[in-house]
Amino acid sequence: MQTDLTNYPTHPPTNDPTLAIIGGTGKEGRALAFRFARAGVRVLIGSRDAAKGQTAAQELNARLGWTGVEGYANRDAAARADIVLLAVPYAGMTPILEDLGDAARGKIVVNIASSLDPERKSRAKPPPAGSVTAEVQRFFGDTARVVCAFQNIAPEKLAAVEEQIDSDVIVCGNDKDARARVVELIRRIGIDAFDGGALANAVAVEAMTAILIAVNIQYKVRGAGIRLTGVPRA
Ligand SMILES: NC(=O)c1ccc[n+]([C@@H]2O[C@H](COP(=O)([O-])OP(=O)(O)OC[C@H]3O[C@@H](n4cnc5c(N)ncnc54)[C@H](OP(=O)(O)O)[C@@H]3O)[C@@H](O)[C@H]2O)c1
Repeated sequence: MQTDLTNYPTHPPTNDPTLAIIGGTGKEGRALAFRFARAGVRVLIGSRDAAKGQTAAQELNARLGWTGVEGYANRDAAARADIVLLAVPYAGMTPILEDLGDAARGKIVVNIASSLDPERKSRAKPPPAGSVTAEVQRFFGDTARVVCAFQNIAPEKLAAVEEQIDSDVIVCGNDKDARARVVELIRRIGIDAFDGGALANAVAVEAMTAILIAVNIQYKVRGAGIRLTGVPRA
């Protein structure tokens, strides 16, 4: 479905906040980088290979028609950012977190990965910490404020950057200010985001992805999402 994007914010990057997308060279990261950069957020693409990050940034700039997106090694991107979004596969996340180390200190870290059974992704399988988001928070201890976001938006919807997204995003984490800042950031790209409360609730958001995948399979669709009812909308 083609959406009227007349009121969609499109302008070159402004100042605050700076968003690092770790693994921003991948499918999800590129789509998010495009949407955020187009909305005026300063975006830094992170990669295990700085040159690959720079190439991805140049490609995005070419698509956007400006030079605001920058590419770095993951650690350097995180060090320059206020908010660090992890867009890497769960299976490869631990070495990425170890590499980030102090670069994420004092920052907000956003996990977009879900608790899925790798054998069958239509089945939820939370890790021992309770959720992937809780695992990331456990890794950083109290040095970073970790939240979940974007789990319930289908990759196809995220990738269709000319279309508006008609699913909600629920943001959970233990720090209220971090949740509020991420909700505000996500609303800048025209997606309705809501504060979903404590980190303990991230398991529900992450497990919902498995339900949406099951629904996609059952009903032979690709983009099942969620909508909250009874909430105020802009
Ligand atoms: N709606 C959503 O929010 C949504 C939907 C689907 C998936 N996801 C989640 O988004 C994340 C990224 O998904 P994707 O499809 O974009 O992943 P991807 O394309 O497979 O990987 C993203 C990037 O991560 C790095 N990477 C790949 N394999 C890695 C490994 N084994 N170890 C460390 N880094 C690795 C690569 O970057 P470099 O080589 O440049 O370092 C790659 O470009 C996943 O956690 C996925 O579960 C979210």
